[in-house]
Amino acid sequence: MSTNTNNPPRYALITGAAGGIGRALVQEFVANGYAVIATDLSPQPADLACAHYLQADLARTVSDEAYGQSILAQVKNIVAPHGLHALVNNAAIQILGGADSLTRADWQQTLHVNLLAPFFLAQALLPELEAAQGSIVNISSIHARLTKKNFVAYATSKAALSGMTRAMAVDLGPRVRVNAIEPAAIETEMLKSGFDGKDALYAQLEQCHPVGRIGLPVEVAKCVINLVQDGMPFLHGACLALDGGISGCLLDPD
Ligand SMILES: NC(=O)c1ccc[n+]([C@@H]2O[C@H](COP(=O)([O-])OP(=O)(O)OC[C@H]3O[C@@H](n4cnc5c(N)ncnc54)[C@H](O)[C@@H]3O)[C@@H](O)[C@H]2O)c1
Repeated sequence: MSTNTNNPPRYALITGAAGGIGRALVQEFVANGYAVIATDLSPQPADLACAHYLQADLARTVSDEAYGQSILAQVKNIVAPHGLHALVNNAAIQILGGADSLTRADWQQTLHVNLLAPFFLAQALLPELEAAQGSIVNISSIHARLTKKNFVAYATSKAALSGMTRAMAVDLGPRVRVNAIEPAAIETEMLKSGFDGKDALYAQLEQCHPVGRIGLPVEVAKCVINLVQDGMPFLHGACLALDGGISGCLLDPD
């Protein structure tokens, strides 16, 4: 990695980097010249190239302060003295269960990974983000606004993440921009495997979206990179629907 002072590195921290969308985010940021610090609960995928990879449990960064500090110290050490240009809070878990069955452990894990880890990462890295005039992008979900049965914990966490995005923009003012993306279905390996052998159902899912297909991980990644680049300084506290138009659909029978 170049540390040429004429061309100082621009650092991006991307969580959930080993997942379907996370991998596309890492590739997009690397392609745009960022020194990517990728992090995930899982080990580094063999084919995922990035400047730094930290294997870390985000839920534990919330519940165990000493552990959280040790992870953050590694990030701070890497980005010094350049600061952090982008924090992309992408990691999430989706524990399915209805109002009758969700446990305290389900709620704790969901809120720690999907909501509190993004908050405490942002809080701890504010000095580095400010130093680089960086910005935060939270990967929320269409479930922040529209949901379905058995998504109570996940949908609540994403609604809170979008709300936190707006509130932090107000709270931080001009210091660090904070935005969110609310994607609808995105074609990750996990999503495709859920439809293995169910081609008709998959085609139905595609046709639910006015664009006639579901989204691609690279489309999320391109949206994120546009949000953090210098051309969007007035975009602050926004929660952008990236959903092929599905959130405009009223499904009442004709
Ligand atoms: N795929 C979709 O259709 C879709 C739609 C809307 C929003 N999203 C959002 O996009 C983001 C990425 O989703 P994805 O589809 O790539 O999912 P994914 O499951 O492929 O990736 C999520 C990653 O988060 C990591 N993770 C989970 N718990 C963790 C923990 N405790 N510590 C550290 N890392 C942890 C996982 O290891 C995984 O690599 C999520 O925020 C998700 O809510 C996805």
